[in-house]
Amino acid sequence: MKIKIDSNLKTLEVYATSKEVPQLAVGSKQKELMIYKFKNPVLLTDNARIAKLPALKRDAVIKLYEFPDRIVEYDGVSIHWAPILYPGVWAPSIDTIIFANAIRNHLIKTRDLKKIRSFLEIGTGSGFLSKYLLAKKKSLGDEMRLAHLTDINKDAIKSALDNIDSIGGSTLIYYTHTQKNARLSVSEQYDLVIANPPYIPRPGARKNNPYEGLFLYEEIIRNAKKLFHAESIFMTNLSSLSKPFIKPSLDKVFNLKTITTSHIPLKIPAITAGLSKESRDWIRYLKSKNILEEDKSERSGYRYWQTIEIVAGKKR
Ligand SMILES: C[S@@+](CC[C@H](N)C(=O)[O-])C[C@H]1O[C@@H](n2cnc3c(N)ncnc32)[C@H](O)[C@@H]1O
Repeated sequence: MKIKIDSNLKTLEVYATSKEVPQLAVGSKQKELMIYKFKNPVLLTDNARIAKLPALKRDAVIKLYEFPDRIVEYDGVSIHWAPILYPGVWAPSIDTIIFANAIRNHLIKTRDLKKIRSFLEIGTGSGFLSKYLLAKKKSLGDEMRLAHLTDINKDAIKSALDNIDSIGGSTLIYYTHTQKNARLSVSEQYDLVIANPPYIPRPGARKNNPYEGLFLYEEIIRNAKKLFHAESIFMTNLSSLSKPFIKPSLDKVFNLKTITTSHIPLKIPAITAGLSKESRDWIRYLKSKNILEEDKSERSGYRYWQTIEIVAGKKR
């Protein structure tokens, strides 16, 4: 299936791709068939909105989402992702797309991307954001000198490299498969550092899953002198779940401004469904810190919400 989000985040269209079309529209030979268009998306898979669709449309959309292959396209840049190829990798999600939109507003519309010759993406996941930067730089008639991607999941590195392969051009692509508890190790300064890091805190956080802990923010702060020169730009994602803990320390080191703010559901069933003692304790902890936005009526379609803020700035 293909999920296509428009550049201003106003619509999300879901398509069946050529192999899938006959399973949704008998006799159709279309290469791509749009199944539904959601307005003002808050998730890439919005179960609440899908459940409210008229029954026949709902069943077509659900059938579409059952196909394991996924192409995610935003602002003309797409990535192919499938759980069987890249197990456990953070697929492009709504926060990825909000981040790409912030890159568009902060670096592309302003043409500041022209000045950027090297970048580091810490925790690249599927590689969407790195590919977005490489593709947009190319469309300005230029290429990056260096792109450095890191992740603790070797399948994330694989996904990123597979997807970047077609547009790498003459850019030097480095990757680091970081060990789970390893400190951030850097050998040069970059014109741009981006990180959409794990951002859900809990006491004694594990450092081995894509959404948990504040470790990477702390490492970036610790390594700021090594990572950034005077003109380097840092862009990161602050969730309302992480912001109260980490923003004061970030502000000591960086002069950050908000590029984009979005209110989105917190949909991570491993935590939010409360199906284990550990997950229930975790939710209790987030509530005790008053950082979990809760819609007790569930009229919004989701119980828990967060505010995502993409910030950008330079070292002080
Ligand atoms: C929230 S996901 C974001 C992925 C991707 N950048 C995106 O926006 O779609 C966070 C990523 O950081 C990676 N990660 C977690 N701890 C890390 C570490 N210590 N070093 C490098 N990457 C890490 C995870 O494996 C995951 O891919």
